[in-house]
Amino acid sequence: MPGQEIPKRIRDDKGDSRRRNSWMNNFILIGFMGSGKTEVGKRLAKRLGYTFMDTDLLIEEKTGKSISDIFSKDGELFFRDIETLILTGLSGINEHVISTGGGIVTKKENILLLKKTGFIIWLKASPETILKRVGSETHRPLLKVDNPLEKIKKLMSQREQSYSEADLTIDTDGLEVEDIVNNIIRQAAGWK
Ligand code: S3P
Repeated sequence: MPGQEIPKRIRDDKGDSRRRNSWMNNFILIGFMGSGKTEVGKRLAKRLGYTFMDTDLLIEEKTGKSISDIFSKDGELFFRDIETLILTGLSGINEHVISTGGGIVTKKENILLLKKTGFIIWLKASPETILKRVGSETHRPLLKVDNPLEKIKKLMSQREQSYSEADLTIDTDGLEVEDIVNNIIRQAAGWK
């Protein structure tokens, strides 16, 4: 694809093509709550014929509790440890699209595990877009506060550096799910 920006990990990877192929066979979506990871992930998986996975769902299945319950009864640190456990269990998978919880990047260990598992895509969105998308939803414990916009801005600025470790960033403001999926396929899957 002439003129196309080549994702940095592919550009830098002059080595073993087997290694490259194994991580390119999974796509991982990271980004803030409400950035569209689940919807985009499901649609992307369908287009590629891959299996869709969501780390929050895997955590709920593993613990038998909802995310809200885990936060209120066991605490955020416990939740973060389960996230790491789930990521560790993903090693060796192939042809998956994995949507992750928005705070998964807050542990460095998790970023390393994600990098080993697949090609990482950051779905970026402004705090205002996020607020619009999550406004009417109630299942996110971290946003059950008096001023959600302030909380979104604060968490986002704490996490931005970690999100930017992704191989590809898609600015999703003003884009429909289908546009985002097309964008990913054009920019990432084309380089497989
Ligand atoms: C969280 C995001 C949520 C979920 C949990 C914590 C976060 O996932 O993992 O409520 O810390 O940003 P989504 O990003 O899918 O909403």
